[in-house]
Amino acid sequence: MDMNYFAGRRTRRHFTDRRVDDALLQKIVADASHAPNTGNMQTYSIVASRKGEGRKALEGFHFNQPAAVEADVLLTVCADFNLFSRWCRLSGAEPCYDNFMSFSSAMTDAVILAQQIVTVAELNGLGSCYLGTVTYNPGEISQLLGLPELVVPVACVALGYPADGGVEAERLGTPAFLFSEKYPELTDAQILENYRVKDEYPDNARFVAENGKESLAQVFTDVRYTRAMMEGSSEKLLAAIRRAGFLK
Ligand SMILES: Cc1cc2nc3c(=O)[nH]c(=O)nc-3n(C[C@H](O)[C@H](O)[C@H](O)COP(=O)(O)O)c2cc1C
Repeated sequence: MDMNYFAGRRTRRHFTDRRVDDALLQKIVADASHAPNTGNMQTYSIVASRKGEGRKALEGFHFNQPAAVEADVLLTVCADFNLFSRWCRLSGAEPCYDNFMSFSSAMTDAVILAQQIVTVAELNGLGSCYLGTVTYNPGEISQLLGLPELVVPVACVALGYPADGGVEAERLGTPAFLFSEKYPELTDAQILENYRVKDEYPDNARFVAENGKESLAQVFTDVRYTRAMMEGSSEKLLAAIRRAGFLK
């Protein structure tokens, strides 16, 4: 295994027209399904949507971002207690998974599966991009994909053969988030020093200028992840979780 893969990986947002072979997709998902999961219940499911006319509505719910439109496959990964609950009932067991704890556990497992798919796919020469927009429009996507009760889309992975090398993104140094024994009381100066790598990263400095802001943090709070956007999406996500039957 190429251990340089991890530090060198990048999200890819542009893809060629080359099709991802069905057998390769099956193998990637099968390998990825060996990821750890709660109680080995495997409370997830995936809807694969291939590029084509029939996918346009789904791409629209992802705001037609390039990765959604160009990727050969969009994998909508769902927290799914429907299948497991049906198996329980068919086996003389009464399922008790219509609650928030069950959603949380299924979501955790689905997201871990999604990340394992990303890793395996990239190690097989594919490029990938998460589409966080899946949790902005979860109700619409559930309806479009015909998701039944106790199924909520929680991640979407766009997969395809990359058309470019992607863009390198900065990372915090580990002292910024890896603490020993106890959570430290960081000074303001330490916080600023830890995040300096983001403030000074050339692409980020460009975003600040392009958006007419004074700092990178303002790009996040005022442009990318605003209060209105975060609160509006919270309502939509909560409604989808409730509609699926995970919240009374
Ligand atoms: C949950 C999640 C949602 C994301 N949503 C999007 C998205 O909607 N569009 C996009 O272009 N990238 C998306 N990304 C990719 C991130 O922007 C990317 O991982 C981050 O900027 C770091 O870049 P890198 O993966 O190339 O290191 C998402 C990543 C995650 C984990």
